[in-house]
Amino acid sequence: MARTRVVIDTDPGVDDAVAILLAVASPELDVVGITTVNGNVAVDLTTTNARRLLELARASHVPIAAGAAVPLGGPVEHAAQVHGNDGLGDLSWEEPSISIDSRDAVDLISDLADEGPLTLIAIGPLTNLAELVRRRPETVAKLERVVIMGGASFMGNVTAVAEFNVWADPEAAAVVAAQEWPVTWLPLDVTHQVWLDDHDIDVFGSWGTELGDRLAGMLRPYANFYESVTGVRHTIMHDALAIYEVIAPGAISSDVAGVNVECGGDFARGMTIFDRRGVDRQSNHRVGASVDRARFTALLHERLARLNDFLRD
Ligand code: BDR
Ligand code: CA
Repeated sequence: MARTRVVIDTDPGVDDAVAILLAVASPELDVVGITTVNGNVAVDLTTTNARRLLELARASHVPIAAGAAVPLGGPVEHAAQVHGNDGLGDLSWEEPSISIDSRDAVDLISDLADEGPLTLIAIGPLTNLAELVRRRPETVAKLERVVIMGGASFMGNVTAVAEFNVWADPEAAAVVAAQEWPVTWLPLDVTHQVWLDDHDIDVFGSWGTELGDRLAGMLRPYANFYESVTGVRHTIMHDALAIYEVIAPGAISSDVAGVNVECGGDFARGMTIFDRRGVDRQSNHRVGASVDRARFTALLHERLARLNDFLRD
């Protein structure tokens, strides 16, 4: 089976953590790089978290490059109330020994694209992608595919209309939306269809391993957060869904769409406008619509259990 070469641009983040672990545990993927960005917490912390997670998964061979510390436009925004002050639920970790690549995020992505077909999976604010467009337009043309967790149609999660990854840097998201590269956007409308509940978390906690303890330890406060805002302890697997899109092509239905991002406005800054009317049939952008939660959850469990077994050996 040919494995898909992927680089993950990320701001870990509890759901980013699940996404990264799912990716390294999946034989369909060859994770060839991780790049980090300011987002859920500051970039020095998201980079530390990426190092923690790769070390946890015994995937220290994957290069990690740090990216943008500040958005292209607007103030620095974080989501520590969702993910904890350290971004991973405030557990205690040893200082990771895995080092940071000497290249920055844009240079690493660019080098990886020169080495072979590459899919870029972006699960944080889009600052690094916008920088890639500015600094390395030739790489943009080389990328096989881009998958983005970001945006919302029905309802935002930071404002009534804005989703966090777009809201944290709307100017960058607008640059990304304006490019004619093959992008699949996975907005909240589809990511809210996949979640874990307390039973799933208890399964991880029952393994009696470091992986299981860390998964359960991160996901419990994440569930507390969701309960406080929605009344339900469903932990939404936003970022893992972007990995699933590459692991299981076609499992998420999608539509061709023109994509615009609102950067101004009194009420709508950070809003994504996905035009699904079909007037923009030439668009290379697609937007995810629906997914089967049971199938997603089964695969996630199977892969995390497989990683757990591998780490036990
Ligand atoms: C997105 O925002 C972040 O907090 C999550 O990690 C995810 O990437 C969901 O809106
Ligand atoms: Ca994220």
